[in-house]
Amino acid sequence: MQYGHFDAQAREYVITRPDTPAPWANYLGSPAYGAIISNNAGGYSFVKSGAAGRLIRYRFNERDRPGRYIYLRDDDSGDYWSASWQPVGKPLGEYKSVCRHGTGYTVLEAEYKDLCSQASYYVPHGADHEVWRLKITNNGKTARKISVFGFVEFTCESFYEQDQVNLQYTQFITRTYFRDKFILQTINENCLNAVNESRVDTRFFGLAGANVTSYCGDRAAFLGGYRDYGNPVSVEKGRLDGTLNYNLNPCGALHTAITLAPGESASMAFLLGQKREAQAKELIARYEDAGLPGREIDELKNYWHGKLSNLKIETPDENFNHMINTWNAYQCFITFIWSRAASLTYCGQRNGYGYRDTVQDIQGIIHLDPEMALDKIKFMISAQVNHGGALPLVKYTHNPGHEDKPEDASYRTSTGHPSYRADDALWLFPTVWKYIAETGNTALLDEIIPYADSGSDTLYNHLKKAIGFSLNNLGIHGLPAGLHADWNDCLRLGAKGISVFVAMQLYYAFEIMIRFARHTKDSATEKQMTDLKTKFAAIIEEHCWDTDRFVRGITERDQVVGKPGDPEANLWLNPQSWAVISGLAAPERGRAVMDLVHEQLNTKYGARLMAPSYRQHAFDGALALLFNPSTKENGGIFLQTQGWLILAEALLGRGSRAFEYYLESCPAAQNPIAETRLVEPYVYSQFTESVESPFEGRSHVHWLTGTASTVMVGCIEGILGLRPDINGLRLSPAVPPSWKHFSIEKIFRGSKLRITVQNPDGREGGCRKLTINGTAVEGDGRQGGYIPASLLRTDHENEIVLEM
Ligand code: GLC
Repeated sequence: MQYGHFDAQAREYVITRPDTPAPWANYLGSPAYGAIISNNAGGYSFVKSGAAGRLIRYRFNERDRPGRYIYLRDDDSGDYWSASWQPVGKPLGEYKSVCRHGTGYTVLEAEYKDLCSQASYYVPHGADHEVWRLKITNNGKTARKISVFGFVEFTCESFYEQDQVNLQYTQFITRTYFRDKFILQTINENCLNAVNESRVDTRFFGLAGANVTSYCGDRAAFLGGYRDYGNPVSVEKGRLDGTLNYNLNPCGALHTAITLAPGESASMAFLLGQKREAQAKELIARYEDAGLPGREIDELKNYWHGKLSNLKIETPDENFNHMINTWNAYQCFITFIWSRAASLTYCGQRNGYGYRDTVQDIQGIIHLDPEMALDKIKFMISAQVNHGGALPLVKYTHNPGHEDKPEDASYRTSTGHPSYRADDALWLFPTVWKYIAETGNTALLDEIIPYADSGSDTLYNHLKKAIGFSLNNLGIHGLPAGLHADWNDCLRLGAKGISVFVAMQLYYAFEIMIRFARHTKDSATEKQMTDLKTKFAAIIEEHCWDTDRFVRGITERDQVVGKPGDPEANLWLNPQSWAVISGLAAPERGRAVMDLVHEQLNTKYGARLMAPSYRQHAFDGALALLFNPSTKENGGIFLQTQGWLILAEALLGRGSRAFEYYLESCPAAQNPIAETRLVEPYVYSQFTESVESPFEGRSHVHWLTGTASTVMVGCIEGILGLRPDINGLRLSPAVPPSWKHFSIEKIFRGSKLRITVQNPDGREGGCRKLTINGTAVEGDGRQGGYIPASLLRTDHENEIVLEM
């Protein structure tokens, strides 16, 4: 079943049936003032932290309630409804609803009994308040008397958890006041007033563009006894009774009564934020200008669409276009900015950036906004410890040069991370490589950046130290120890147990270091890394290759994880795809292991992380056993890994396979089976339940996931074959043979490229001929064609034609 469609022109996803299988959300603002909103106006807002700065309530894992509600009432008939389908939930035969989720804004349109409403929700660019602009139009033939009610349920206190559980305290600390055009809420006012009035935390909910007819600041009075958000007594009565909260639960509710002649429209704006009284007053005055919201929404569109337009593709597959041009790209920015801070699954309790998550998230935006990526790269490098390891969690308050680290009890108690993870710092290699290759900014290698704990070094030396950390933490057979975990949070291999995935990451790190060393003419490092590559390739071959596959790891008790014949978890996806990505596996070996993956791990919704799932034969330390079979790390389709799968197949030049995998887990391609998928068809989620689940195909943990960036990289470098290096751009698409023609527009180092790919013979990889601005350049066929940066012109567009 389908609940909506993509509007490519507007870069919006348009939901035409509001009864979606789950709340389908969008992000407004930034973590400075963050807001999450569902297609039924459910969601919450916070200042700076979802956990410590929560402004409005949301009940997780419930019925998507409460939210940013606007109620409408016909004052002649007494009938009432809401500008979002829920919470009132009028019968869908009589109530038409369209939700447009766009880049940084959401518009909810409704039509009920000849009255059209359009509620636009957004946080102005760079601002720390939110706006709900409402337009209503009388499409009928008679004049209508309409009451409009805006409602928001404030938290009693900013700490989300306290607000939810410590009721004997939080219910007795807040008050609301009515001030002309807004409700003002205070927290701990009595105590703070005694100390210093300016410390009182205040929030406001205001109305601009209309007069306040009545108000209410107390949730119980607004809803009435034994009522719900769907039938508040005050909306039913058509008037708010002026009760203000003194203990128990506050709210902000404002009512305005208007009359609309046939064809007439009215507009107004509800405003919400954490502001002092004077600031609130000033803001409301600004929004008396009815044109302001329109201009602010345009500004948001310009900001986002500008970023997204740095890469534009037109391929024969509409779903691929929707994802790459807008939705996957937008999600990459959201994961980059928000990390795992807050969603309808994450309550905001994580107090920092996961090292590996963020370093990987960066990869998703490099092709669109390398400068934005650069700041975060430097920030993450500054969270590397002087001995080369990385802080598993980088606190939001990160203070380079002064941080405690997993060796310190203080770090362990404040973050809950007891030790280092084997992979964290190794993610820097692909990320730094991608940034330098995209921009040609090799000067970054010489930039001095502090360490988290003490001292500083050039970025180049930071990278060398990251390799040093792995080399200083070897386990059995001289391979990288699995430490607290590798990419897979559920693998405890023991102090001397080893991770094959990390061994491959390290192998790849040697290769990147060789490229940098060559560039800086550091022949000693180049030689050292080359020798290490040879040495590690031999050890991996001897200890980690078994019959027809790479194993996943070896525990400290010498148990091999992922070997043929094991009753459970005998084939793991990542060591096969990473054998190809890291360059370790020669093409023939690469094709063989990827064929095995296709045969044994692939399903209609993507390839499983491993199979069969653990039930009876898990090794000690296989935490995946905690999950139901075919779920998450226990044999589920862990979607982040699909990006590596796509990339690996594309690197092998097998476009059909790469695209087959792409489509299996592509959200847009699952639009017609939304009820199976559950989560939004415009964004990736963390995992999909697989074959042993009665709900095969159901996906979970929406929006904030490494899937976004990894699949993006699989598509950009893999399927589209855009592979920059220090001196230019390699082009090596890997597409389905049915793609006879497609085009790419890309901004690359300040030049505009218009790439046309011709594939008359229906090939699935490689490049036979390449021209730039009419001049033929050398291509070596299988590896694709190469455009040296020196040939790029900045004074006009570069016409590039590639024949596959
Ligand atoms: C989650 C974690 C990520 C980890 C992955 C696999 O997505 O955020 O850090 O790599 O699970 O366990």
